[in-house]
Amino acid sequence: MRVAMIGGGYVGLVSGACFADFGSSVTVVERDPAKLAMLRDHKIPIYEPSLDQIVARNVQAGRLAFTADLKSAVDGADVVFIAVGTPTRRGGGHADLTAVYEAARAVAKAATAPLIVVTKSTVPVGTGREVARILRETRPDVRFDVASNPEFLREGNAITDFTEPDRVVIGIDLLDTEGAARAEASMRQVYAPLVAKNTPFRFVSRESAELAKYASNAFLAMKVAFVNEMADLSEKTGADIAEVAGCMGLDRRIGDKFLRAGPGFGGSCFPKDTRALAAIAQDAGVPSRLVEATIAANEYRKEAVARRILALAGGEIAGKVVALLGLTFKPDTDDMREATSLPVMRNLLTYGARIQAFDPEGMAHAKSMVTGDVTFMPTARDAIEGSDILVLLTEWDDFRKLEPQDVMAAMRGNIILDMRDIWDGSAFTAAGAVYHAVGRARTAP
Ligand code: UDX
Repeated sequence: MRVAMIGGGYVGLVSGACFADFGSSVTVVERDPAKLAMLRDHKIPIYEPSLDQIVARNVQAGRLAFTADLKSAVDGADVVFIAVGTPTRRGGGHADLTAVYEAARAVAKAATAPLIVVTKSTVPVGTGREVARILRETRPDVRFDVASNPEFLREGNAITDFTEPDRVVIGIDLLDTEGAARAEASMRQVYAPLVAKNTPFRFVSRESAELAKYASNAFLAMKVAFVNEMADLSEKTGADIAEVAGCMGLDRRIGDKFLRAGPGFGGSCFPKDTRALAAIAQDAGVPSRLVEATIAANEYRKEAVARRILALAGGEIAGKVVALLGLTFKPDTDDMREATSLPVMRNLLTYGARIQAFDPEGMAHAKSMVTGDVTFMPTARDAIEGSDILVLLTEWDDFRKLEPQDVMAAMRGNIILDMRDIWDGSAFTAAGAVYHAVGRARTAP
């Protein structure tokens, strides 16, 4: 199949590279000249393990190319994917669809033969219908079949999520039997290796596909927000959230995934998608109290971390040194969007604390996002050196290897707060720490 992928961002690049790896001939259209130059140079503008190798081998095999010229990419394509950004619109939480509709218009103008047009961006319910309307209005002389194919890619895990997905969801226009059959056949072809592996495919209405994406993300976000509340309750009651979640997860109706307590969810998807879903539900006249509560509970949690650190410092933190390990919203990414470290740093600076921060991948972005007395350190060890309080926010693997004895020898103080519960509390306590972990009453000395 000949595929045009409009948008060389996170979703576009991962999907384009993987479709090429599946055997299609893919042209990724990127209009940002700086990004395009990088891609043509085989440099990957995002941090995603093994994506560089997939891009390189498919470019070499002549199956993957990058261009700024949408017209040439669409001309001769069998399927066009729209994978442009849908940021939150100012005020109200709605997704901004300007780029999606602009892409639809450009695709229509460029089309020379019948096309399957597929939205891959996360879009509100009804967007597929509007894309179809725009395409047909712009070019009544061309036949377009419009599908919706939401992605469920986790940053840092995107390649496996794409190549070994739990399911592939494809929304088609069920009222147009012939068009739906054409779209279904094309999608089975671009996803041929997954069809062969018996991956569950769900061909549903476009509206169901669009809502399924938001509903899945919101449900996972709700699980995280719920377990975080139970973590607070565990701390107050003497329970241990790891044990509580372990017991809950064995119930197959609940499942053991997304039950890890932490400092609140961040990233480019959960915060944006929960806000968008809340806005969609409000507009539809059926407000989602659960989704709204998930957003509020998570905002509260992110703001509360710094208050907790202040309390651990005895209510006075001005001039004290806080070591922060892990700044990105989760490990194996350089993404700082909506990361809990941002309100933590902002609030600690307001209290007058001095911060020594380290993150394996996120510091370049973090530097441009905070101003004040934050020193970004070259290693975790440097961040810990001379600190009064050590706080772990993101569970990078390297941090698991830190030796309690070394950590305590490097610190000036002895207070540790492990917001991901990755360390052995007893070992740190034995080494002299006053040790606190998320979701557990303080480890007794
Ligand atoms: C998410 C969805 O998982 C993915 O399907 C969707 O397409 C995009 O959004 P991503 O944002 O990359 O992926 O990260 P994910 O691994 O889902 O984590 C989201 C946030 O929840 C992170 O801040 C993470 O630290 C937090 N989280 C996740 C927890 O605190 N506890 C958990 O148990 C799981």
